[in-house]
Amino acid sequence: MKTELVFATNNAHKLHEIRAILGNDYLVHSLSEVGCFDEIRETGDTLQANAEIKARYVSERYCCTCFADDTGLEVDCLQGAPGVYSARYAGEDCNSERNIDKLLAALGGTENRAAQFRTVIALAENNCLLFFEGVIRGRIAFERSGEGGFGYDSVFVPDGYDKTFAELPPEIKNSISHRAVATKKLVAYLMNK
Ligand code: IMP
Repeated sequence: MKTELVFATNNAHKLHEIRAILGNDYLVHSLSEVGCFDEIRETGDTLQANAEIKARYVSERYCCTCFADDTGLEVDCLQGAPGVYSARYAGEDCNSERNIDKLLAALGGTENRAAQFRTVIALAENNCLLFFEGVIRGRIAFERSGEGGFGYDSVFVPDGYDKTFAELPPEIKNSISHRAVATKKLVAYLMNK
C-alpha cells in the first residue's frame, strides 16, 4: 500500500521533483489536491520557522501527515542573504528574473561567489514535528546560463560541476540538490519508522 503524504505546496516544479525522488511507494498530494486554497503566510524569520508554520497548519486542519519545505539561497559574501527572503529578494514586484538581477548586481565583479542552497523540511504528523536539512554548496555565475529549472537555477553552479542547475539534466539536479538531500533524510526516516 502506498504511503500518503501531503506536500504543502502547489509549485509544479517542486512536486515533480519530489515525486521523482520519492518514487512509486509514495502518493504525494499537493495543497490544491486536498482542497486547501488558504494563503499560508510565511511569517518566520528562519527557514525552519516557515517550514514549521506550513506543515503544522495543513496537518492540523486536514488531519493528515504533511511536510513542508522552505529554501534559501545563502551567499557567503552577502552574509547569507538572500536566505529566508530569497523568494522576495527584489521587493514587492519580485519575480525570479528580478531576484537574479538584484543578486548579480549585489555581487558585481567579486570573485568570492561561494553560495549554498539550503532546504529545511518540516514533517508534521500526530502532533509531532521533525526537521530534515539539505545543503548544496556551489557558486554564483557571472551571468545566466540554461533554460531548465526555476528560481535561481540559471546562476547557481554546484561544486564539482561547470554547469548551472538550469543547464544540468533534471536527473542530476534531482539527485544532488538541497531538496534531494533533505528529502532523502525524510525518506530514510519514513522507511525506518
Ligand atoms: P521556497 O522556499 O522553496 O519557495 O524557495 C524560496 C526561493 O528560493 C524561491 O525564490 C525559489 O525560486 C528559490 N528556490 C527554491 N528552490 C530552488 C531551486 O531548486 N533552484 C533555484 N531556486 C530555488
